[in-house]
Amino acid sequence: MPFTIAIDGPAAAGKGTISRAVAAHFGFAHLDTGLLYRAVGVRMLDGIDPVEAARALTPRDLERGDLRGAAAAQAASKVATIPEVREALLDFQRAFAQRAGGAVLDGRDIGTVICPEAEAKLFVTASAEVRAHRRHAELRASGSDMTYAQVLEDVRQRDARDRDRSTAPLKPAEDAVLIDTSHLDIDAAVAAAIAAIEARRGQA
Ligand code: DC
Repeated sequence: MPFTIAIDGPAAAGKGTISRAVAAHFGFAHLDTGLLYRAVGVRMLDGIDPVEAARALTPRDLERGDLRGAAAAQAASKVATIPEVREALLDFQRAFAQRAGGAVLDGRDIGTVICPEAEAKLFVTASAEVRAHRRHAELRASGSDMTYAQVLEDVRQRDARDRDRSTAPLKPAEDAVLIDTSHLDIDAAVAAAIAAIEARRGQA
């Protein structure tokens, strides 16, 4: 029986870390759906039409080295407002969710649009300042010289764009469990996520 875990939330709330840990804990496959939009975003920066790029996307496009940077993130949040781009990425995500061994998908609209039937849904959030601090530390560690103020501005811009778009905006599903990681360290956030999913598994 497929068991799908949907993990949504704003940029840099800890979704990625939590999703990887949850997937390892349950032995499930993991898809970071932000990478799909980032891959389309960098193709747009290359001068390619984003809808064409989304329709032609292959798993190899997800291996590009420049997907994690701030330019790719901003471009991703722009192409993510285009309904035809989202539509083109739908089947791949739904097929991934149906894997027999269980799947974890993280993004913005997994619990609301991609997998509304997911057995467990989490909405992971944190204040914009906490998220900007974490992303700033990550970017610094990878050699970027962006300032905290620039990263905070970047996070706020993406939040606004992701929340205010008309197609599949960022919002918690009605049946999602909310996890605010503002005052949690990684271990505590992962433990909260696993406990919430175990509770749903007990009901499934
Ligand atoms: O999770 P991330 O920061 O890698 O996502 C990059 C952008 O992609 C994000 O700002 C909005 C978009 N995105 C989306 O619209 N829907 C998803 N399921 C995942 C990401």
